[in-house]
Amino acid sequence: MTDNRTELMRKIKEEIIVLKESPLYEERIKNKVFPVIGEGSHHAKIMFVGEAPGKNEAETGRPFCGASGRILDELLASAEMNRTEVYVTNIVKDRPPSNRDPFPDEIAVYGPFLDRQIDIIQPQVIATLGRFAMAYIMEKFNLTHELKSISQMHGKKFEAGASYGKVHIIPLYHPAVAVYNANSKDELKKDFQILREFK
Ligand code: URA
Repeated sequence: MTDNRTELMRKIKEEIIVLKESPLYEERIKNKVFPVIGEGSHHAKIMFVGEAPGKNEAETGRPFCGASGRILDELLASAEMNRTEVYVTNIVKDRPPSNRDPFPDEIAVYGPFLDRQIDIIQPQVIATLGRFAMAYIMEKFNLTHELKSISQMHGKKFEAGASYGKVHIIPLYHPAVAVYNANSKDELKKDFQILREFK
């Protein structure tokens, strides 16, 4: 039996598939790739929000399935977690060409879908991966006054009020920073241990 959350997520997927007003829609059709909606438990306590799909993600329709995804799996394992118990998504659901940073108009088009996903899953923790997700979530929850550079914010815990109750926001570095830099992987691993208390 599909529960209501699955039904609501499916509706989001159907809307994004035909989202012609997105500046990334034509590119997706031209490249014959997929939007990436998100994956994991619809009852997750912890929701990870990345930036936007890369090449592997757009080809498969799955979030974090390339080099950054392997790091994410390692980080989750270091906190004794796996993908089936969390939910992983991005702000922007279609791949920006050449993996460039998302533009503000792209964030504006896809942001409301992420907002709906948060309201569906009702996570206790939103762990942001990278500066774009951090900025979007901090602003969404009226914490703009706390916003600093990611090197000052990573691993800190902020409390906010969501439509469904209390939520903790934990900004984290993007796993991509650890692909070539072992020091940042150690730092990411350390930050991930904070998530243990919410399992
Ligand atoms: N980077 C992201 O921000 N998201 C993905 O899904 C993959 C790489």
